[in-house]
Amino acid sequence: MKLTLKIWRQADPQAKGETVTYPVNDISPDMSFLEMMDVLNEELVNKGEEPVAFDHDCREGICGMCSMYINGEAHGPDRGITTCQLHMRKFKDGDTIYIEPWRAKAFPVIKDLVVDRNSFDRIMEAGGFVSVNTSGNTQDANAIPIPKEDADEAFDAATCIGCGACVASCKNSSAMLFVSAKVSQLALLPQGKVEAKRRVLNMVEQMDKEGFGNCTNTGACEVECPKGISLSNIARMNREYLSASLTAKD
Ligand code: SF4
Ligand code: FES
Repeated sequence: MKLTLKIWRQADPQAKGETVTYPVNDISPDMSFLEMMDVLNEELVNKGEEPVAFDHDCREGICGMCSMYINGEAHGPDRGITTCQLHMRKFKDGDTIYIEPWRAKAFPVIKDLVVDRNSFDRIMEAGGFVSVNTSGNTQDANAIPIPKEDADEAFDAATCIGCGACVASCKNSSAMLFVSAKVSQLALLPQGKVEAKRRVLNMVEQMDKEGFGNCTNTGACEVECPKGISLSNIARMNREYLSASLTAKD
């Protein structure tokens, strides 16, 4: 396949940035999108030019690093996958492909397609954990009965990989789908109930501090989420938040 790539290049966070056009040839339909980017970067390096910076780690849909906006869609035209799982067979020979970084105030561009997602880490630090009893009397987790429906919903919420596609797809740059998945996975389990009130209040407070927008129920986040995280998690987080707000912070 021969393709024309229009890629956002930005040398550093302060640089203005611009879209640069690169033709690529000999792209196999069986290549992943990142492998196609590797071909381009190899050519650029061989020519003595600066390769395109992009994030990646696992290349199998687990780490959530490969954030790219492709032809106006987070993670490209396919559904339920990350950019590293996208294959070039989804495109046609001769296509022009626009590749941009996530756009959100809380995800500033570091270089080219790489954005700073530390805001997600700070939200997790504010409450996305359970405190574990290490006194020597720790209860065996398998000895705590959990209804099957709750376990299934908690596992579904726990599949969020923190990629940020929900934020990038939202017209308000809202992080509600991400935060609600993290709140839900713990709120549904007995291990998470001890700190539940403090958790939801602190995580939402941090989310607001980071500059993410509000949710207006558009649902673009759910459509573009590679892990199919449901909007029902946002409803659960809102219920958790309301009930925690009505009682004193512990
Ligand atoms: S909710 Fe979905 S889109 Fe948002 S960070 Fe988690 S996996 Fe990515
Ligand atoms: S590189 Fe890890 S999810 Fe894509």
